[in-house]
Amino acid sequence: MSSISKRAKNLSPFHVMDILAQAKILEKQGKTICHLEIGEPDFSTAEVIIDSGIEALKQCKTHYTPALGLPELRQAVAEYYQRKFSLNIDAQRIIITPGASGALQLALTCLLDAGDNVLLADPGYPCNRNIAQVLAIETVAVPVDAGSFYQLDAETVAKYWNSKTRAAMVATPSNPTGTILPEEQLRALCRLVESRNGSLIVDEIYQGLVYDVKDYTALNISDDCFVINSFSKYFGMTGWRLGWMVVPEDYVEAIDRIAQNIFLAPATVSQYAALTALKAETQEILDSRRDVFKQRRDYLLPALKQLGFGIAVKPQGAFYIYANCERFTDDSFNWVKKLLLEQGVALTPGIDFGEHDAAKHCRFAYTQSLEKLEQAVDKIATFIQSS
Ligand SMILES: Cc1ncc(COP(=O)(O)O)c(C=O)c1O
Repeated sequence: MSSISKRAKNLSPFHVMDILAQAKILEKQGKTICHLEIGEPDFSTAEVIIDSGIEALKQCKTHYTPALGLPELRQAVAEYYQRKFSLNIDAQRIIITPGASGALQLALTCLLDAGDNVLLADPGYPCNRNIAQVLAIETVAVPVDAGSFYQLDAETVAKYWNSKTRAAMVATPSNPTGTILPEEQLRALCRLVESRNGSLIVDEIYQGLVYDVKDYTALNISDDCFVINSFSKYFGMTGWRLGWMVVPEDYVEAIDRIAQNIFLAPATVSQYAALTALKAETQEILDSRRDVFKQRRDYLLPALKQLGFGIAVKPQGAFYIYANCERFTDDSFNWVKKLLLEQGVALTPGIDFGEHDAAKHCRFAYTQSLEKLEQAVDKIATFIQSS
């Protein structure tokens, strides 16, 4: 008899995994698949960063580091904020984590007890609610639409906040919508959450991948937020599993204890490589990659609108477009499956990001070359015409 826990049994799968498994079968059969479902940069890690990792290994940097990370990396992150945003952040408040995923686990563990709840945007990053579920923390899905840039705002959060609410979580730019939380909206949100004695967790994992508008950090607005970041996306280091979090000073000691017990420490070689990732010279390479993402967005956005998808807010960051496909279907999951089978284009269905209007939406990730995006658009056009 299986003794798998209820919490493990109840954990939702990603529907996109079905799509991916199907795509793999088709690829084995010799079909070419346009992968617009993948949420990671197609570029491999910049060579200078890889070289630093290799050098660290050659120097036998293979032991544990402190649970909160290498002191010099925490300092380098502080200097990064100084260089990018003219902000003085005490390195003691910076915690190096196993990816933003590790930071999310630490933040939720530190701020909420079993039975408390956290407010999340729907649509939003699905792992947030799943991590919360594993920790027996309840989640309250707050439906968001174009009117609030698919982000939480103070007015809505006030409506959903109840006696069990301890925190609200946002991501700017957002996954899946690529939309940015306007600074003023975030400021009002911070004030509201503070007035309820709660905490605001701001996931800035797509920071650096921002187009048209000025990049900012919630740390410009408040020192009381939990600000999460990662080396995965802008820095192109998904597989190195490294991120960081900036927290109010009072929480550092508790997070140190949690990190010691859950992770022991972030990966040592990755931390040495990250020192190079944060250097000003490396930023030039990373910014040129960001410009490539922008070119792709500038192609894909009008192309999808032309095909009849509804995109109510211009995505200005990350590498996602969250498109309304109700002109073609009222069941985006099956529509996405059929598109894959008939035309070999893989997308992520809205259902992976929540329930609110999910069946009317799908997510496009422009983590492929312009040429491949053009091929995908042609195939989608054929699919729409033949349906
Ligand atoms: C909004 C958001 N937060 C966190 C993560 C986790 O990223 P990682 O653990 O690779 O840093 C992702 C990954 O796609 C994401 O989209």
